[in-house]
Amino acid sequence: MSSFYLNNLTDYNTAYEASVKNTEQFWDAIAKKNFLWKKRWSRVLEYDFSVPKIKWFEGAELNITENCIDRHLENNADKTAIIFEPNDPSSESEYITYKELQGRVNKFANVLKSKGVNKGDRVCIYLPMIPELAVSVLACARIGAIHSVVFAGFSSTALATRINDCDCKIVITSDGSYRGAKTIDLKGIVDEALESCPNVNSVLVAKRIHSNINMANGRDEWLEPLLNDASESCDATVMNAEDPLFILYTSGSTGKPKGMVHTTAGYMVYTAHTFKNIFQYQEDDVYWCTADIGWITGHSYIVYGPLLNGATTVMFEGVPNYPNYGRFWDIVQKHNINQFYTAPTAIRALAKQGDDFVNPYDLSSLKVLGTVGEPINDEAWHWYSTTIGKNKCPIVDTWWQTETGGILISPIPNCFSGKPTYATLPFVGIQPALMDENGNEILNTKAEGRLCIKFPWPSIARTIWGDHKRYKDTYFSAFANCYFTGDGALRDENGHYRITGRVDDVVIVSGHNLGTAPIEDAINEHRNIAESAIVGFPHDIKGNALYGFVTLKSESSESEIEVIKSEINALISKKIGPIAKLDKIQITKGLPKTRSGKIMRRILRKIAHKDTGNLGDISTLLNPDVVQSIIDNSLNK
Ligand code: PRX
Repeated sequence: MSSFYLNNLTDYNTAYEASVKNTEQFWDAIAKKNFLWKKRWSRVLEYDFSVPKIKWFEGAELNITENCIDRHLENNADKTAIIFEPNDPSSESEYITYKELQGRVNKFANVLKSKGVNKGDRVCIYLPMIPELAVSVLACARIGAIHSVVFAGFSSTALATRINDCDCKIVITSDGSYRGAKTIDLKGIVDEALESCPNVNSVLVAKRIHSNINMANGRDEWLEPLLNDASESCDATVMNAEDPLFILYTSGSTGKPKGMVHTTAGYMVYTAHTFKNIFQYQEDDVYWCTADIGWITGHSYIVYGPLLNGATTVMFEGVPNYPNYGRFWDIVQKHNINQFYTAPTAIRALAKQGDDFVNPYDLSSLKVLGTVGEPINDEAWHWYSTTIGKNKCPIVDTWWQTETGGILISPIPNCFSGKPTYATLPFVGIQPALMDENGNEILNTKAEGRLCIKFPWPSIARTIWGDHKRYKDTYFSAFANCYFTGDGALRDENGHYRITGRVDDVVIVSGHNLGTAPIEDAINEHRNIAESAIVGFPHDIKGNALYGFVTLKSESSESEIEVIKSEINALISKKIGPIAKLDKIQITKGLPKTRSGKIMRRILRKIAHKDTGNLGDISTLLNPDVVQSIIDNSLNK
């Protein structure tokens, strides 16, 4: 895997030009050179964004786990594939070699087979960041089952929605999880979820916290004895290039979460190629991404991208502030981390604690620093670069999405450097465009608009599970023949992109994508709530936080209102998860509405942003006077 490194700006310019002029030839060469195929493709790309239909490497046959594991065994059987760093710093780290990983994945795959899981079946994985999570993901891929990992911070209702949406019959979970000083009863959450999932007939439970949990007769089984009895060999199921590899849910601005479907070959080629080039991974480096495998970042850049490159990848079970705010840097020192990839919200939270938590540690192993998930502000960028990177590590501000499968816009360290707050230039093969309000592409280099991508890349999601129409409506309808990202961006005179944020009703809170409508739906179930509107507002650490404007059905006393406010957040925690809780709740007499009854969120957004100087023309509202009373009582004055 030594070839295809982009080593300097000329490499990038040449490769970029080729990737845009002869896209098929470009990816054909990369796919041929770097992977193990059981059968080559008959066609590199077939697509039509107006359907939409996208197929990469059609006709090819492969199994991604042979590329992630088996092919490394010849030279690197004893190399560490995964370093597991537990929540408790005094517990031993675990080092899983490629050979061991193969045995563990195969055993797990055989257990799944013994439970009747076949190619194409959906398997729900609801696990903390323990080795079983990576192993179960790969075990599904080994036998062609479609994994649907649900982040273990989601509530029972959110879990049930995801299980039912793609009709999983089996759930993999653990007795519980550690999170800093706390333990979480994951199995209890699963039990509650399964009360509304009649089709789940098997639950496999990993032992982690050794708690006394309920095991439903005939449905729940401990994993350990099953794995002990299973064989270490398992033939890799032959997959077609376009067979689904996984489903991963992401919030939409309305309605239920969208099950983004990623397929096998294109996802493999793109995540491998981006990982190698953007993180400049070299043989023997140790790479650490702090994300959870429950998000796309963990799928692509903890599991698949690194393992496809035969890398050593770290899985961290804990949190950045346990036992104290130096934990990340302790781990960097302990494992001599070379590439470190985290989110702006974590950087801001750690920077706020001061450098005393950083200074005791030797961070000299670091070579590349990455950030992902939301725009990184100037201050956080500089702190990261100076205090962590000692001004010698390039920062890769990587912009991408669950839907894109891999990084689309990012600096490439050897080729061109980062610029604070800019994701900079498109990766090879990526053709961004900025659109104006009328749907036309803005051709000036320096511009601001809605960010679209004009041409498919190998790891673009192919559909929304069970709802191709929604896929078309969400991503391919706003602008003709383009993929619409939902983000706004500006482009400087050198063609460098800076992502400015969502232009829809999605708010990114601590790097988590949250649709506001599903949160409103959740709280509107409260017996005393007439209606609500939720918007984002800037927050020092989280990037954005949520502000809810709520009207009540009946007059309530101050103490009743306090109870209602805490019930609102309890409801959100239950229906979605604690990450979606509101930071501010303002009880209002009414919400500003158009004459057709639509809530004017634009005005509420301005109030939440303390930007009430220019609210635009509000005279046409159904209830203009309500605006002033909301401003007068605003919690963000
Ligand atoms: O708004 C962009 C923001 O995160 C959104 C995608 O969220 P999700 O699907 O959860 O995936 C996150 C991890 C890839 C985008 O539409 N976003 C992601 N990375 C950046 C970003 N915004 C600015 N800069 C980034 N580097």
